Amino acid sequence: MGRDDELLYLNGKIMPLAEGTVSVEDRGFQFGDGIYEVIKVMAGRLVYLDDHLERLRRSLGEIALSSAIEGHAFDEVLPDLVAQAGLETGYVYMQVTRGWAPRDYALAVGTDSTVLAYTRPMSYPDAAAILAGVELHAIDDPRWARCNIKSINLLGAVLAKEEARREGADEVVFLGPDQSVREGGSSNLFAVVGGTVRTHPLDRRILAGVTRHHALRLARSLGLPVDETAVDLAELVAAEEAFMTSTGVDVMPVVRIAGRPVGDGRPGPVTLRLADALRADVATHVGMPPPPPLRP
Ligand code: PDD
Repeated sequence: MGRDDELLYLNGKIMPLAEGTVSVEDRGFQFGDGIYEVIKVMAGRLVYLDDHLERLRRSLGEIALSSAIEGHAFDEVLPDLVAQAGLETGYVYMQVTRGWAPRDYALAVGTDSTVLAYTRPMSYPDAAAILAGVELHAIDDPRWARCNIKSINLLGAVLAKEEARREGADEVVFLGPDQSVREGGSSNLFAVVGGTVRTHPLDRRILAGVTRHHALRLARSLGLPVDETAVDLAELVAAEEAFMTSTGVDVMPVVRIAGRPVGDGRPGPVTLRLADALRADVATHVGMPPPPPLRP
């Protein structure tokens, strides 16, 4: 019956993941009426937990669901769950929905929200995978206009990422109507242009990535010029370097876009400096020695 390291916290109770059930009329299931977070676990510790909980609170506030997590002390519940599961490397997925109510678009009053989190083992890209980099597939952004909210409505990203997979690419680049580069399907995107690290500003068109925040913090502390203004697709393709950030990949070099190489088609020096800095930061955060620097 399932794996020991896959443990579920569901509305205050802990159980094997395979034993969790929710109503077919849960508003998360029917309307996508909910919020999620994905938090990395390394060395049995949750990485940047406070940032993820802060973003969860912000997203819930945006959809009038702040009350759902009252009484759930996630800063204690989640480390406990990871410890009980004995999870060393992987992630915690958490989701909060407006819960069960007879189907009606307008927000039902007084539903019992569904609050859950579970552990899942997973390995992260090793040095060889990071140095190999990824390819992006460009697509007009089909998503709603509130991408700052980490909504469980992911159909736009699902269809886009499937199209990318069919095209042999690893991730998408979502473009605005003016060809501006917004973000990836499940990542934030960066270009290095004239030595400056450029990325889309925080607004409703992108998610405020936790990894984005720490990558920019580290870039500034390394003295790299940073500019939070979007590049367009032509600038991204012509950039010296490009990379993406997310909980799943930290800093990952982008080496091809729409079939064309970025720079010389290999990870660039700024990207690798930032990847090293973030890997060291994450390791320190979980009490491990920093990994050896990446060498192309
Ligand atoms: N996705 N932008 C989008 C649209 C995302 O879905 C994500 C994360 C990010 C990066 O955010 P962070 O650095 O906080 O992981 C940016 C998660 C990992 C997912 O859906 O699996």
